[in-house]
Formats: sequence, C-alpha cells, structure tokens
Amino acid sequence: MYREGQATAIQRADYSAPAYWIDTVDLCFDLDPAKTRVLNRMFLRRNPEVPAQPLKLDGDELNLARVLVNGQGTSFKIEGTQLVLDNLPDAFELEIFTTCCPAKNTKLMGLYVSNDSFFTQCEAEGFRRITYFLDRPDVMASYSVTLRADKAKYPVLLSNGNLVAHGPLEDGRHFAKWVDPHRKPCYLFALVAGQLVAREQRILSRAGKEHLLQVYVRAGDLDKTEHAMNSLMHAVAWDEARFGLALDLERFMIVATSDFNMGAMENKGLNIFNTKYVLANQATATDTDYSNIESVVGHEYFHNWTGDRVTCRDWFQLSLKEGLTVFRDQEFSQDLAGEASARAVKRIEDVRLLRTAQFPEDAGPMAHPVRPDSYIEINNFYTVTVYEKGAEVVRMMQTLVGRAGFARGLTLYFERHDGHAVTCDDFAQAIADANPGSALATLLPQFKRWYSQAGTPRLHASGTYDAQARTYTLAVSQSCPPTPGQPPKEPFVIPMGVGLLGQDGQELPLQLAGEAAPVPGQRTLVITQATETLTFVGVDAEPVPSILRGFTAPVVLEFDYSDAQLLTLLAHDSDPFNRWEAGQRLALRRAIKSIAATAYPAGATALDDAYIEAMRSVLRHPLLDAAFKELVLTLPSETYIAEQLDVVDPQRIHAVREAMRAQLAHALADDWQWAYETHRDSGAYRPDPVSSGRRALAGMALANLCLVAQGSGPSASSGQASVWPGKAYQRFKDAGNMTDRLNALSALVSSGHALAAQALPRFHALFKDDALVLDKWFALQAGAPDRDGNVLPAVRQLMKHPDFTLRNPNRARSLIFSYCSANPGGFHRADAAGYVFWSERVMELDGFNPQVAARLARALDRWTKLAEPYRSAAREAIVRVAAKPDLSNDVREVVSRALAD
Ligand code: TRP
Ligand code: ZN
Repeated sequence: MYREGQATAIQRADYSAPAYWIDTVDLCFDLDPAKTRVLNRMFLRRNPEVPAQPLKLDGDELNLARVLVNGQGTSFKIEGTQLVLDNLPDAFELEIFTTCCPAKNTKLMGLYVSNDSFFTQCEAEGFRRITYFLDRPDVMASYSVTLRADKAKYPVLLSNGNLVAHGPLEDGRHFAKWVDPHRKPCYLFALVAGQLVAREQRILSRAGKEHLLQVYVRAGDLDKTEHAMNSLMHAVAWDEARFGLALDLERFMIVATSDFNMGAMENKGLNIFNTKYVLANQATATDTDYSNIESVVGHEYFHNWTGDRVTCRDWFQLSLKEGLTVFRDQEFSQDLAGEASARAVKRIEDVRLLRTAQFPEDAGPMAHPVRPDSYIEINNFYTVTVYEKGAEVVRMMQTLVGRAGFARGLTLYFERHDGHAVTCDDFAQAIADANPGSALATLLPQFKRWYSQAGTPRLHASGTYDAQARTYTLAVSQSCPPTPGQPPKEPFVIPMGVGLLGQDGQELPLQLAGEAAPVPGQRTLVITQATETLTFVGVDAEPVPSILRGFTAPVVLEFDYSDAQLLTLLAHDSDPFNRWEAGQRLALRRAIKSIAATAYPAGATALDDAYIEAMRSVLRHPLLDAAFKELVLTLPSETYIAEQLDVVDPQRIHAVREAMRAQLAHALADDWQWAYETHRDSGAYRPDPVSSGRRALAGMALANLCLVAQGSGPSASSGQASVWPGKAYQRFKDAGNMTDRLNALSALVSSGHALAAQALPRFHALFKDDALVLDKWFALQAGAPDRDGNVLPAVRQLMKHPDFTLRNPNRARSLIFSYCSANPGGFHRADAAGYVFWSERVMELDGFNPQVAARLARALDRWTKLAEPYRSAAREAIVRVAAKPDLSNDVREVVSRALAD
C-alpha cells in the first residue's frame, strides 16, 4: 500500500522568528543552460531576539562548490537538504558558490530554460533551487544582481529593480547589473535572459513622476501585447485613484513565457507571466482571454503593494496577499466594466467560480481554512479557498465598514506595516481599527472565524407572514458541516443583503421591529447567532424575500421558495445577482427532480412551460443586456448540480443536463434565431463588456440552433433547422475574430454535427503555429459533450498528436485537465477507463513536474460521493497512485488526504 508521512507536516503554531537576518544579497550569475554558476555574497546578522543557534540554509538540487565566512574557508555540514554552519560571529559576510542545471529543471521552479531563454519562479520555495538561503518570506533583504551570458543568445538580461550598469565581456559575453531599491523576501526575486523584445510605454503618475512600463515577449509576438499594456496602464491608474497607491518603481516589467506552472508571478518590478495571460489579438484570443488578461495583469500589479510592500510572515498567511489581491483585481475589473449591469455580470462570474470550485473544495478531503493550520507541501495550498474564499472574506470586511471605510483601513494597514512581513490578524485589525464602532470592529474576534474555520456555512431561512399584525418574520439559522480536523464550528458573522418584493415585484421599504421609520430599498443585516429572528413591520401583503443580495457572504442559502416566488424574483428583483440566482434555482430544482425520477433516460421533459416561458421572457427582454441574458440562460453546470446531491451518478447528471439543454434549444428555437440574427454583428472588434456580451449571446444562440438541427423533434425535421450547422460552418470560416470563430466551432462540436470533422482540421491548419490557439483546439475536443464514451478515445488519440506534449503545462492542462477536471460526463465512465487514464497521467506528470501532477490529482477529490460502480473504481485508481514508489510530497499529500476521507 502507500507509504505515509515521508515528509512531516509543517504547523502554523510552530512559527518562530528566524535565527539570522540577511541584510544584503549580492548575486552573480554566469548563465549557461547546462551549468549555471551562482556566486552569492550576503551580509548576515544574528537575530538577538532568539536563542543562539546554528545557521541552517535551505537548498534543493544544488551543487555546492565553496563556502566562505568573512573571506575564509570554514567547516560546514549538509543535513538533509540544508547547509548548516556553526560557531558564527554575530555579524558576518557569507559567500556561497554553487552550480545548477537550468536545462534539466523540469519542475519549472527555480531557474529554468524555456524556448532557449532563462526564467525563474521562486514562490513559494523555489529560491533554494538557485542558491542556499533562508528561504522564508519574513527574511527581507536588499538585492543587487549581476547577470553574465552569451550576448548573441541572450541579448536581454533582466532582474528586479533598476539597471545600473551593463556592457561587453570577453568571448562574446556581456553583463548587466541590477539593483532593487526595495527590500524583499527571496520569493520575489526574478531574473530573465533571452532573445526578447518589448513594447514600451512611458507614463506619468499623479505626482508627476515618470515611469517606464515594458511588456517583453518573443519577437513574433509584439503585435499581441497592446491589450496587456493597456491593462497595465489601467491598473496603475486605478490603484492610485481608488486606494492612493502609486507605482514605487522607475521601471515596471512584464515578461511572458510559454512554460509556466501557474498564471503569473508578482516578482518585484519584474512580473513573469504565462503567455496565456499576456498575448492577445482579435484573431487569436477570445473575449474571455481579453478579460482574463485584464484581471491577471491587474492582479500581479496590485501585488506590488499587497504582497511586495507588505508581505506574509509565513506561508500560512498566504491569503493575506492572495485573498486581498484577488479582491482588488475583482474590484478593478468591476470598476473598469463601468455601469451597474456589467458590474453585476462580473460579480456573477466570480460567484459562479467560487461555487463550482471552492464550495466542493470546502466539502472535500482537501478542505482547509482560508488561513490553513498545517501543510506538507505549500504548493498544494495555492487554492480557490485561499484565493477566492479569501477574497470573499475581504469583501465582507468592505461590506461591514463601507467602501470609504475599507479604503481608510487599507491606508492604516500600510501606515502600520509597510516594509514588513505580517499576518492575516494584522490585516483584519487594521481594517477594524480604522473603523471604530463599525460592525467589523465590534465583532472582530468572531469575524475572524472566517480565517480559522473551514467549510461552507449553510444559512437556513424561512419566512412567516402575519396578515393581522402586518409583519413578516424571517427565521434564520446557520450551521457549518465538519471538515477534516475540525469538528463542530462556532457561528460566523454573516452579512446578509436583504430586500422584500411586493407581489407585483415592487421593492418594499424595510422597517425592522423597534425601528422608528422604514428605510427605502435594500439593506445589509448582520447575522451573528446560530439562530435569529428578524421581524419586518408594516408589511401589507405577503412579500417575496430577496436574501443574500449581491452574494454578501460565501454561504449556501437555503430558503424554500415556491416556483411562483422564484419567477417573481427572476422577473423583477432589482438586485441582478438574485435575479440570476432565481433562474438558477428554478433550473436546479428541475434538474434534481429529473435526476431522482426513476424513468430512464432521464429528463426527456425536465422543463415545464413556466420555466421555458420565463427563459423566453429573459431572452426577449427589451432592457436586459446580452451578457446578463447569457448568464441567466446558462444551465447550472454538472459540477454544481453534483454538489447539491448526496450520491452522485455523473452519467445521470450528464444525461439530464443534456436533455434540458436540448429541450431549451427546441422550445426556444425561434427565439434563438432572433437572438442570433440581432446579436451576431457587434461592429468592429472591441473586447468591451457590451460587445463581448453580444458575442456571447450570439454564440449561445448558434450552439442552440445547431443542437436543434441535430436533434429529433418537430423543429429539427422542418428543413429550416437543418441550415444552422451549415451557417455555423460558414461563420467558423468567415469570422473576423476568435470569439466568433471558436463559438461557431464549438457549436458544431458540442452538437455532434458531422461538419465538426471538417472544421477541426481546418482550425488546426490555420493556427498550427500559435501555441495558445492550439491549446483551445485540444481543450475543445477534450471538453466535448460525451456521446457513447467517445471522448476518452479521442483524448488518447490526441496524446499521440505531434503537437501534444505533457511537458508543457498549458498543453497538459488543455488536453488532460480539460478531460479529467472539466468534462464529468466524459470522465466518469462505468468501465473505469477515465480513472485509469487519470492515474497514468498523474504518475507520469509526477515524474517531472510534481506541482502540476498534484493539481491533476485533485480531479478525484469528491470520489466518496460517487455512486457505484464509480466510487469503488475511483478509489482503486487513487490507491494505485498512492502506491507508486518515489511519489512526490505534492501528490502524496493530495492522495493520502483523499483516501483518509
Ligand atoms: N503569487 C502568484 C499569484 O497568485 C502565484 C504563483 C505563480 C505561484 N507561480 C507560482 C504559486 C508557482 C506557487 C508556485 O499571483
Ligand atoms: Zn496572487
């Protein structure tokens, strides 16, 4: 069986300050793919606040050549992966000379080679793969860096901060010296060397200071950097306008690489990005790509203050920078979107991600608090809980203190902690202290349970109307299911946006019992107890409650709405989030009923006229905008539906949802045609919310029309419908932008039409030289709706395609993850072949990139919920992975937790 506990868990409670401080670091690199030489000269000082002890420096896959203390040879020990030095003076110079092999660095952590260029990735613990160091975020030092390399092969030499010297060396080599004016932890160190070109932009800050912005890419990609640069300029301006945070560097650089484990990295002054989040033009990138680029460029830029100026004391505090920075990038995108409806669309998308990815994590074997208590491999804790739920926790703080109060809190946070490595407690304290008397300040210790308790709270509400007393009473209770290591939970502080609608859909004024007068419009009530009763007075008729407006807290709201109430909310709620939510609840209820029905094939007529008519009204609504309509008309995902069930039969869920999709396509055929004709032309390509919303709705309409043509039923057989696949193919060929082109291709693929077999090779031929577009090509096929088990053989075949490689994380994600993690109907096969495939790929990836392997390993997190035969087969596959000799700590942690569930 599997071996456990090879690496011990690190506990948050065990934190102790470092025994030494590192004041300065002078690094000198002789860059060579096969053997890079690193000379590291540091000044260290004993930390007088901790007992005297040896210096233990972290290292990983380094060849150690020399160690000097104050210029003298010295004795040292190697203990495991650490370099240990004893009998040191209180302050001294330490010189360490090592070599490493960037060309063989397949983990993409530390210094590695991609496309003949050098890149680094140091967060979380990659710097120890470059030199021996105190590799922990609370050790902050001043860096100077000299890079030496062949001038022809590596004309561009970059590191953090300012370029202070550069010039030629002998033998065709050259050098550049960089000095970072800001102290930083080593995880923010970066270097880049290679044949790169930059788009440049000079900007002026409000104070009139000039800054140079640069976006570095490979020579052929310069025409795809305009949007990233615009996003960066917007981000700089936004942080100054909204939070008074100005760029603190003369030069700010972004560099794109196609080999990257994650999205992007906020290295001080030298952000390194996955090409996916930099490169875009209308021919190759979709609207979603454009908006992701805006978010990620913003996210990394905002880290310059929330992460780099104030960093984490230890990795348990990761959400201090990540939750806060995700919150900031969400707000940035909302503010750029402008008007209320576009802001709401962004909010709905963010909540949808939280509920389809974070809620399952919170309910599964990897559940952990926003501030975890222990970990084996920190890379496994860059999670949707730390990021997205962490952002919701920050958002609740803003809700409790108001927008201006939150900005004041952030100002106080920087006054107190600028230049330091701090904790989540420090952050919450600053926001509360800047807002004395606020609900947050009053409830702070209880509020902070959001940091310490894992699991998604359930908020149960029920309403009673008393006609005589003219009161409406909401009985509210909260509970939170147990999570690994955390038995029963204490109640949370839950901000709850509430409004009441009259039967005609009009917003009612709200007056709580005991209040002197009604308050117009919605308000936010704060739930703190396990059970509470809220009584509204002066209510003339039974109202429809709109609860948790704007999704004011990351909880599951349970309210036993009638269909009629949901239809009222869908038609009238002034809160767009709850308007969308009402439609989702209507669809979910029908899906679950159909899944539970004994008749099989399930869901043939899952949807009733009332639901279909409601969807028709939304689709045809004269005032709602297209992006919002597209969200309302999108059925809840298979993953989201699965989370609502105790026992999950993925094939049944797939069948029901597909049947619902087909039914909606047929029943609204005329309306889809109208929607397509009226939204298909969005004018000259611009990725703004209005035109991308129109493209999204047109794309959805086309997919539905193709589905109608493929299906049986009256509208299909009428010759009318059969023209749509041909039209889609034409659209696919003629589209002026990638969004329309990919939507047309996807309409053919997802309807299973024969024309897909012509379109797919054509698409490949058109874009064979563009890696990011080929990723879409692989992903589309791996994510296609499964028909009689056809997806897995296609995926296996695609693995043999000359353009496929598991070594490139983007490509691995596009084929393997799209199948295992994003196509439940294709993946969960009764013959277990999907799970076998998964286990093979996890083990294969683990051989060279454990971080990516561990992400894939998470695809079976929810195996205990599966019905038989899936459950036993999934367990068997996990056991097979766990039994592999030499499994990485990364994957071991994931599979051991899965098996302990
Ligand atoms: N700090 C990065 C971000 O969220 C995340 C990141 C990028 C990362 N690359 C990584 C985390 C590698 C761990 C390992 O902006
Ligand atoms: Zn981040």
